[in-house]
Amino acid sequence: MSSDNQKRAAAEAALEFVQPGEVLGVGTGSTANHFIDMLGERFAGRVPACVSSSHASTERLRGLGFRVVDLAEVDSYSIYVDGADEFDSALAMIKGGGGALTSEKIVSSLADQFICIVDASKRVEVLGEFPLPVEIIGMAERGVSRVLRELGGEPVRREDFVTDHGNPILDVRGFRIHDPVILEGEIEAIPGVVTCGLFARRPADVVLMGTDQSVQRFGV
Ligand code: 5RP
Repeated sequence: MSSDNQKRAAAEAALEFVQPGEVLGVGTGSTANHFIDMLGERFAGRVPACVSSSHASTERLRGLGFRVVDLAEVDSYSIYVDGADEFDSALAMIKGGGGALTSEKIVSSLADQFICIVDASKRVEVLGEFPLPVEIIGMAERGVSRVLRELGGEPVRREDFVTDHGNPILDVRGFRIHDPVILEGEIEAIPGVVTCGLFARRPADVVLMGTDQSVQRFGV
């Protein structure tokens, strides 16, 4: 089975968690896109509103007839469904390969449950093989890069890219992240960092991982 089929299988499994009549938090990326498309097929007219983590997902949801509301209009919701670039045994994740990490962290923080949908390549023993995205305020690039190097990383500015919030991203290679909770806090404490792509202080509650044979469930 291709990784895209594994993503599709994981996305389909996440539909079981969708409660008709409830607001839904929706993530960003190719796996989230499968989820959105299946939501359109199976839940049209049964989801009163969605909160989205990117302009791209908002557009896709609206194209399928879903109402997308501003985060300011809702207090909380039951589930947030999104992909990840890596996850470990504690269900901590690296996210932000698609550049939507800041809105993903904000939107997921209001959900009771973070349902992460991934293909089998995303499971790792130790986070850090995937370059860690860090969204920054542009003027802070030199200072933030210096501290990231002191922490053991090798930051490289993502070329020809700004986030939905108008900021650059540094992709940081070289980390072997044995304590992602600590590193997330250290990086987010650097002046000029908007968001670090580690989702460890608030990990996923459930990971649905598509494999060639089935969908493996972690956290349930
Ligand atoms: C976007 C993300 C994505 O969830 C992550 O990059 C995984 O993407 P994909 O589902 O395309 O493999 O964090 O910012």
